[in-house]
Amino acid sequence: MEKLCEKTISVIGLGVVGLTTAVGFALKGHSVIGIDVTPEKVMGIADGINPTYEKGLGKALKKVKLATSTDFEQVLNSDVSFLCVGTPGNANGSINSRPMQEAAEQLAEQLKGKKSSHLVVVRSTVVPGTTEGKIIPLFRDMQEVRVCVNPEFLREGTALEDFMAPDRIIIGEDNRRQGDMLLGLYNCTADSSHVLRTNFRTAEMIKYTSNAFLATKISFINEIGNICKKLGIDVYEVAKGMGYDKRISKDFLRAGVGFGGFCLPKDTAALVMHAKETGYTPKILQEVLQLNKEQPLRMLELLKIHIPSLKDKTIGILGLSFKPDSDDTRESRAVPIIEALLKEGARVRAYDPQAIPNFQKLFPQIEYSSAEEVLASDATLIITEWDEFNHLDYGNSIVIDGRKIEAAKRAKIYEGICW
Ligand code: UDX
Repeated sequence: MEKLCEKTISVIGLGVVGLTTAVGFALKGHSVIGIDVTPEKVMGIADGINPTYEKGLGKALKKVKLATSTDFEQVLNSDVSFLCVGTPGNANGSINSRPMQEAAEQLAEQLKGKKSSHLVVVRSTVVPGTTEGKIIPLFRDMQEVRVCVNPEFLREGTALEDFMAPDRIIIGEDNRRQGDMLLGLYNCTADSSHVLRTNFRTAEMIKYTSNAFLATKISFINEIGNICKKLGIDVYEVAKGMGYDKRISKDFLRAGVGFGGFCLPKDTAALVMHAKETGYTPKILQEVLQLNKEQPLRMLELLKIHIPSLKDKTIGILGLSFKPDSDDTRESRAVPIIEALLKEGARVRAYDPQAIPNFQKLFPQIEYSSAEEVLASDATLIITEWDEFNHLDYGNSIVIDGRKIEAAKRAKIYEGICW
């Protein structure tokens, strides 16, 4: 197996995925250049400033001293280019692969004149058929350029850890030699247990189905939690009993107010849309999304048991990020809840350890305060399971808990969404 220590890697798109990929490969001993269109981001990263909340990425960045540039021409100094540009969702759920496509077009423009071999790696999340249909044609006349697909399975908050110790490496290829080259970058061999080599569209599909399955597992346990709530059963006890079965596993069985983030909602919706375009309606996946849409509103139903009219009441929100240890508010379950509260004429007082600056862009009109002030509201909803929420005094509060914070059970009045 050819080991590629002497190869140089360019990473296009320095979001969480791109920056983690660039730093990860630099930690493995490769020389890496990160390319992004945002000058502030490029300059900050070159100075060792980590623009994300990713654990360990800042320290690693200072260690590897990543070269960065806004100039696409830099790809000519590399042998492999990873396309890590985001693919946001359109309003109808389909993905917008335009930004990634434009980056690929710029890459093709630069590689036209290249005389030595070059590997283009599609790492962005794209629906099956995209690489063959939209990326490969850009490089068709370039004898020296080959393309592979290499989806990422990085979780926000633990992205570098997930990169350095992946459960799996999935490679979509049409040429063993290129796949070998890519494996060499990971210091892996073809017989490594966690490597799967397949065709382009299967590699693209594995990414989507993995996220769609995780979303399905969460909506499943939330549905079971909704039944348990009616039956006076704690779904966390049920999940514990289920998790002993290694076919089920205990992971992703934390019932609550639902799933958010830039990936699970978007990728599941994109798969639904892509399936419909083929003429097949994915019933289960549609219901997974529908249940996730409705789940946050169950918090208001429980709230109204104790405060029937919300007009002019002050309702506290603990947690605005889509998950703990993150400042990311994309698809946060706090969004639909606050929208519903404002529609009912309630005043909202919110706290989050990191996500307030991002959330203020969405809801400038609500009050932001400390956790203690939030708990002095007429009632408080817990939306994100930040560790510090386990160390608050809930004694004088009415609490509706969407994330199973044990300390909150000492509230004057306590209701769990699924327990
Ligand atoms: C996810 C996938 O885990 C990762 O493999 C993929 O590459 C990107 O998308 P991420 O979005 O960072 O990662 O967060 P994750 O930890 O998966 O949580 C997603 C959402 O599900 C969060 O809102 C979280 O609160 C929720 N969740 C997760 C639950 O409600 N219950 C669970 O048991 C687990």
